[in-house]
Amino acid sequence: MKTETYEVQIGKLLEQLTLEEKIGMIHGAGLFRTEGVERLSIPPLFFSDGPMGVRAEFADNEWRNTGTTDDFVSYLPCNSAVASTWNRELAGEEGRVLGEEARGRGKDMILAPGINIKRSPFCGRNFEYMSEDPYLISELVVPMVKGIQQSDVAACVKHFAANSQETERLWVDTKVSPQTLEEIYFPGFRAAVQKGGVHAVMGAYNLLNGEHCCTSKKLLNGTLRRDWGFDGVVVSDWGGVHDTREAAEAAIDVEMEVTYDFDQQYMAEPLLKMVRSGEISEALIDEKVRNILRLMFRLHMIGEKRETRKTGTYNSREHQDTVLKIARESVVLLKNEEECLPLDAKKVKRVAVIGQNAAAIHSNGGGSAEIKALYEISPLLGIKKLLGGNVKVEYAPGYYIPGKEAQGSVNWQADSTKKDWGKTSEEAEVSDETKECRKRFREEAVALAKECDTVIFVGGLNHDFDSEGYDRTTLTLPYEQDALIGELLAVRPDTVIVLYAGSPVAMPWNEQAKAVLWSYYAGMEGGTAIAEILFGKENPSGRLAESFPKDANDCPAHTIGTFAKKDVVEYKEGVMVGYRYYDTVDTPLYYGFGHGLSYSRFVYKYMTVRPVTASAETGGTMDAPRYELAVTVKNDSLRAGKEVVQVYVAPKERQDDRPAHKLCAFEKMELMPGEEKTVTLLLTAAAFSVYDEKQHAFAEKMGSYEIEAGSSSRDIRLRWEREHFLSHPGR
Ligand code: BGC
Repeated sequence: MKTETYEVQIGKLLEQLTLEEKIGMIHGAGLFRTEGVERLSIPPLFFSDGPMGVRAEFADNEWRNTGTTDDFVSYLPCNSAVASTWNRELAGEEGRVLGEEARGRGKDMILAPGINIKRSPFCGRNFEYMSEDPYLISELVVPMVKGIQQSDVAACVKHFAANSQETERLWVDTKVSPQTLEEIYFPGFRAAVQKGGVHAVMGAYNLLNGEHCCTSKKLLNGTLRRDWGFDGVVVSDWGGVHDTREAAEAAIDVEMEVTYDFDQQYMAEPLLKMVRSGEISEALIDEKVRNILRLMFRLHMIGEKRETRKTGTYNSREHQDTVLKIARESVVLLKNEEECLPLDAKKVKRVAVIGQNAAAIHSNGGGSAEIKALYEISPLLGIKKLLGGNVKVEYAPGYYIPGKEAQGSVNWQADSTKKDWGKTSEEAEVSDETKECRKRFREEAVALAKECDTVIFVGGLNHDFDSEGYDRTTLTLPYEQDALIGELLAVRPDTVIVLYAGSPVAMPWNEQAKAVLWSYYAGMEGGTAIAEILFGKENPSGRLAESFPKDANDCPAHTIGTFAKKDVVEYKEGVMVGYRYYDTVDTPLYYGFGHGLSYSRFVYKYMTVRPVTASAETGGTMDAPRYELAVTVKNDSLRAGKEVVQVYVAPKERQDDRPAHKLCAFEKMELMPGEEKTVTLLLTAAAFSVYDEKQHAFAEKMGSYEIEAGSSSRDIRLRWEREHFLSHPGR
């Protein structure tokens, strides 16, 4: 007998389910699970955070880790690190490891990836997100989602949508124009749905244009389901639902909460009562259950394929190797004058490693992205294990971090959803004692630096700053690190500066420093990767996926729009986010979007541009190919290395509120010493399109364009000017 389709089987199951059972399936029955229906062999859905690995096990009804030893996991590079690889394959590998570990831990849905736009460098969760550029996000999220889901576990892209600040995150109303949503804030989610086939989407905490995202009909019923054809599961962010009727009528399927009275959730008893009394139609509940059952079939949780469901695994050696591969490509060499780097391991005898981030462990912080890592190699450990026993490596903390207050009895996660949650990441007032300590730490570090042949500073931020629940208020490095770096550079101008952080910081000493290396929280092997790059065992190939502004007041979200307000934030800067704005008005930056150096030297030789014809499937869509580019690059050095060829498209005539150029294609290529290679890239209709609010659709614009190929948004090496006609032979 031919197997019945999912939909037929779902229909049959729905007929057998009681209203009470259906309601049990659509809300949390534990902090990270729903209720199953045993008599029909429908299991509960088990969720877990998050983007950097599978979070520790929680008690069902208490924000308390169970404290067992079987939930240590691989700690993966955060999404900012993954994005800095500019490597689609590695994004897929990150997803695969995450999916295998989630399934290995018995989860059905991993609450990742987080793909909100980095609108301001201050957003506390930037480290969980990828980029300021929607195209780069779209290109990376697709393989990542596919990687996760190959283990019969659902990815859950979050937080939909326009959730780019933490301040008053549950109550802030985010005002964004349709054009800005379509061009900047939606593309990553749309790609995850339409190209990645993502099984789940998490609604954001904030309101969008007056409606709570988790129950917004416009966003969920309209954009997500009607426009994009999403038939997976929508999960609320934890505590993101605020009204029973709204939740029933909106296309959300599962309500999750941070409190423990699960029966009192909006989509629990209150909904049951309203359906019983006829105020709400049961058909609305059926629709939600249908989506959940469809997901269960897709994950082989139910149905005839359940015996074949993948088992997954965690903490495998292969996972650790993969995590290291990703970390290596994520590290960005920002500056390297006089070939200060790489250091020569054979020549160093006594190395000073200065700064608390050299020795710090970061995996256990950051909010819901926290990880109980099986291990974490700090940069200091990485350097020591690379250099071995014949080199003296001496560590000095360099800067002092005052002791933290003891944690309260209630978990921050439950607290952080309350109104007027007032935590900020600002440093508390510095006491005289702290000042004294800092001075002493600096003196000790400078004295050590003078005695050693090599000085490496490792500072930056930590998860007291890069964290869920609050935003930063300054770009300045905490703990008076700038003073320390200044003093180190004064006595040792060749001090190598390594910054380990989740979002851009001010670098007032940037001119003086010769070598600056940047790493995001790069997972359990982050320290190994940094050491390998410092000592030349690896050639850096990371590129910034965001701009590094000199002054936060230059950021369009702050100067044109508003940011970190409590009631309303206005995205008045529109589509002028990140480099789209900075490059248009020529803002001085520390480092621009796409920047990153290599120990190799790449010469861009030629670019050819050839019109191509759209196929039957893509014709008329934004994916329709328009031009095929061939860019030839030569590695003019003695080291093998990787270059990321970036292609930007710049309209010759444009309005003031439109960007000078935007990223439309990229490819990472490996080149042997002396090798010359040609990479082909495709420009699609999307490169020439603008969202037309009147037509409610993207419209391709003819006219003159410059096609730019280069090494960053500010380092364009080749240009090709071209008239783009809608009637050209490529259409
Ligand atoms: C976060 C989500 C997370 C959820 C569950 C919320 O506080 O915003 O990203 O997945 O908690 O821990």
